[in-house]
Amino acid sequence: MYIVNTDQAEAWNGPEAVNWAGLSERDDPVNGALTEILLTAAGIRPEDRVLDVGCGTGGTTRLAARLAAPGRVLGVDLSALLLDHAWNTATAAGIDNVEFEQGDVQVHSLPGNGFDVAISQFGVMFFADPVAAFANIRYALRPGGRLAFVCPRDMAENTWYVVPMSALHPGRTVTELPGSAMFSLADPAWLTEVLKRAGFTDIRTRPVDAPMAFGPDAGAAADGFLGSGPVLAVLQRADGPTAEVARQLLVEALRPYEEPDGVRIPGAHWLVTAARP
Ligand SMILES: C[S@@+](CC[C@H](N)C(=O)[O-])C[C@H]1O[C@@H](n2cnc3c(N)ncnc32)[C@H](O)[C@@H]1O
Repeated sequence: MYIVNTDQAEAWNGPEAVNWAGLSERDDPVNGALTEILLTAAGIRPEDRVLDVGCGTGGTTRLAARLAAPGRVLGVDLSALLLDHAWNTATAAGIDNVEFEQGDVQVHSLPGNGFDVAISQFGVMFFADPVAAFANIRYALRPGGRLAFVCPRDMAENTWYVVPMSALHPGRTVTELPGSAMFSLADPAWLTEVLKRAGFTDIRTRPVDAPMAFGPDAGAAADGFLGSGPVLAVLQRADGPTAEVARQLLVEALRPYEEPDGVRIPGAHWLVTAARP
């Protein structure tokens, strides 16, 4: 397997993957409302061939498979650990029109003209070379094929990121918080430029606000954040808090977001659609 983005491959095959598997496979998935918006925008029809980019544990892959049947869906992801989960869950659900491949979408060998639709839920922000990666996705689509994905808007607009990170950095303003690769496509001008350079047309970026769900209560949400890449990086710093102190700070900060059905924190996303000419 050929992977150019080795840092991300390491992260998504280690603690970050374990954490994301837990978050995305809870009864109340992290991205429930947003997933519906994404799939509606993708307009998947029966018999479509669908590519799910950075499919993780395959939640969107399984939903796309139901919409595309008797067509097929291929989920591609860097993470063997998440793909194991994806295979097992799809098999247990009796979904037989999905396949999963481990690879770096930037360089993964995809069939030219092989797909009618490409989708991604938060799986396109981590490419080493985004233009090359989106060009590979464009190559895999048939002429007239469609791309639909969601990715985060600016860090400062994403309360679900600002709240826990501010708790761990008392006294810092939002702009002084550590950033994350997950905001790499937050600038709509850059995002549009990347897709243009990759050969896409009809590029539309629409802001969508949808809450993110982080478990049944503040304790569970704190544990989820403690396993996430940005928080792990804070804990690894020489001047960082201990895991115990960090957990206390996170629980206090997340408590105000407890609702009857669990912890809900506002999220600000781009819904992006484009076409292969
Ligand atoms: C935030 S998770 C989203 C997972 C899934 N789409 C979901 O909504 O639960 C990002 C995913 O993108 C994958 N990923 C990151 N860079 C990738 C790349 N270059 N090629 C393939 N997958 C990648 C990671 O392994 C991870 O599973």
